[in-house]
Amino acid sequence: MEKAEFGKYFTNIFQDGFIMLSIGIGHDLGLFKVMCEAKEPISSEEVAKKLDLKERYTREWLSTMVAASIIKQDRDSNLYTVPEQYKDIIMTNMGFAPALFAMGMRSKAVKEAFKKDGPYGISYHDEHAIEFIHWINGYRALMCDETVDKKIIIPLLDQQGVSRLKSGIKVLDLGCGAGNHVTAMAQKFPKSTFIGLDYSEAGIKQGNKHKQEKGLTNVTFTQGDAHKLPDEWAESFDYVFVYDVLHDLPNTHKALGQIYKV
Ligand SMILES: C[S@@+](CC[C@H](N)C(=O)[O-])C[C@H]1O[C@@H](n2cnc3c(N)ncnc32)[C@H](O)[C@@H]1O
Repeated sequence: MEKAEFGKYFTNIFQDGFIMLSIGIGHDLGLFKVMCEAKEPISSEEVAKKLDLKERYTREWLSTMVAASIIKQDRDSNLYTVPEQYKDIIMTNMGFAPALFAMGMRSKAVKEAFKKDGPYGISYHDEHAIEFIHWINGYRALMCDETVDKKIIIPLLDQQGVSRLKSGIKVLDLGCGAGNHVTAMAQKFPKSTFIGLDYSEAGIKQGNKHKQEKGLTNVTFTQGDAHKLPDEWAESFDYVFVYDVLHDLPNTHKALGQIYKV
């Protein structure tokens, strides 16, 4: 890139970062949901009323989204709309944006971890874990059924895995996070039994909440360490599901050994 082009590229990153923060706010407050569900152009007053929010702040958020070319505003009526063709893209992808809130809360810990005399890493089980779990739960909720279908069901079709899941096997979701995938699987395969294990207490709490809300009896959650699975679990699972976890572990080989054990 030429200097001028790089200058533009670099400064745009800052602008996009702020837009992403606003997308995260819109996701968390339900603003995008209201906007995407609206059948007609809608005013800032109506949006604010539906969510019991302040109109002034709602209008500011809407203006930010208009400036970011995500929402359109009619110049005469001042009403807002989300173009029809944007809606499913927004609804399936916006959940990633609040990651910035969770990451921001950890920036101090990350800087400490860089230092030679700093800690080895950052725990998933500290006072900020709840923010991370809140984010991953909201993000996964938007796409978890699709993930279960495309990344679990379809790949397993050829190996008769699905018929085994249907007839009843024992499954471990290692590093289950907020329990989105394991509860979706438990719902789809009521004859199988599932255990969701995670290091994070906040994740286990959220998993149990999903279990209760879905009225599931074939899933249990337990707090634990992927590097030290209970010896009594040896050879007791038919299928171990690990999604977006291995790269987070301090010792992947050790965890793989534990997966082999169970
Ligand atoms: C990126 S999240 C993925 C969560 C979940 N699998 C999902 O896809 O929603 C990684 C998860 O690994 C968990 N984790 C990290 N280290 C762990 C360990 N040593 N033992 C068990 N879980 C761990 C974290 O608490 C976190 O929930």
